[in-house]
Amino acid sequence: MSDLPQRQATDALMLTGFWYRALPADRVQRSQLYKATLLELPLVIGRDRDGHPFALRDACPHRGMPLNGGHFDGKNLECPYHGWQFDAHSGQCQLIPSLTSDQTLKVDRIYAGSYPCEERDDFIWVYIPDPPPPGAGFTAPAAAPEPAPQIEKFGEASGEISSGKYKIAYLQAEMPVSIDHGIIGLMDPAHGPFVHQAWWWRSQHSIHEKKKNFEPIPNGFRMSAHTPSSNSAPYKLLRLYADADSITTTIDFILPNLRTETIRAGKYWFSSLTTVTPITRSQCRIDVVAAWNIFRWMPFGPELLKFVFAKFVEQDRRTMELQAEGLKHNPHLMLIDDADRPAKWYFQLKAAHLEAKRTGAPMQHPMSGPVTLKWRS
Ligand code: FES
Ligand SMILES: [Fe+2]
Repeated sequence: MSDLPQRQATDALMLTGFWYRALPADRVQRSQLYKATLLELPLVIGRDRDGHPFALRDACPHRGMPLNGGHFDGKNLECPYHGWQFDAHSGQCQLIPSLTSDQTLKVDRIYAGSYPCEERDDFIWVYIPDPPPPGAGFTAPAAAPEPAPQIEKFGEASGEISSGKYKIAYLQAEMPVSIDHGIIGLMDPAHGPFVHQAWWWRSQHSIHEKKKNFEPIPNGFRMSAHTPSSNSAPYKLLRLYADADSITTTIDFILPNLRTETIRAGKYWFSSLTTVTPITRSQCRIDVVAAWNIFRWMPFGPELLKFVFAKFVEQDRRTMELQAEGLKHNPHLMLIDDADRPAKWYFQLKAAHLEAKRTGAPMQHPMSGPVTLKWRS
């Protein structure tokens, strides 16, 4: 093995065949239409009169008119150009106003492309299938192979979940970089002391050697359960508040773009699901959704938490905005061991996933077993 850092070109390839977060649920009102873009696909999103969300391709199958400017009665969506009407969920054409009674065109064989759509943990998720077969416009929608991802919640046994005794909140930020840079920025442990400095968190001087265990999981990798870094104030606070001897945190990364973090301290838990969503080849959006049952009795607890997270996300966003300046000129990039090893795994997982799809063989996981990584941060 050479000691030279590995050159890495990011390809900004966006993976189809997965669920992606489209819009925060509280921004989507009944009987209204909204625009969203996922993987460079223009979408029109809305809720029917019963509140169920839907997602259609934002282009009429007749002549490509965006449907988001059309009329929506809570059930059918009417194209603003020639008035064709489509069922909001299936995309099936219901009416072509120009047809005379003796014209026999089969209206119900025409579809505006529709995508599986689900509401989960305060977000509207859309399933982006592998590119549809040619002849779209006559293809009925297919169901997603699995439900949309959700945040892991605890305390099921005590009835805490069913009675809604937990809080949930989200944060989002747009980044002018490709999905790959968004993701490797998210999993990168070495930028912390330089980007995320604050007197109440930690300083550059608190930099020290870390050693963490990682293990392969299906479609991703896990930073095994460990006690969080002792040099951060919120964890010190949590230890005091939860009055628990052991606090453990587990962090998973799963293709295409999911990062989950769970922190447990006795009966208290904090769980988050962060996604980096490809909007276009050169633009992504980070959405952090967190659920927790800690700080519920503490005034300002949730606000405090949101403040800390918002600060972090803003620091990352600002950094990536600056990074995008440098990336404009297409510089050579490198990944070094061990700090960039998670980034290497990400690229290897992505390549292995694409290879498995191409050959139809099971995916070859790039990690053969547990690995310990060391870095200073
Ligand atoms: S373009 Fe939509 S009805 Fe003609
Ligand atoms: Fe960061």
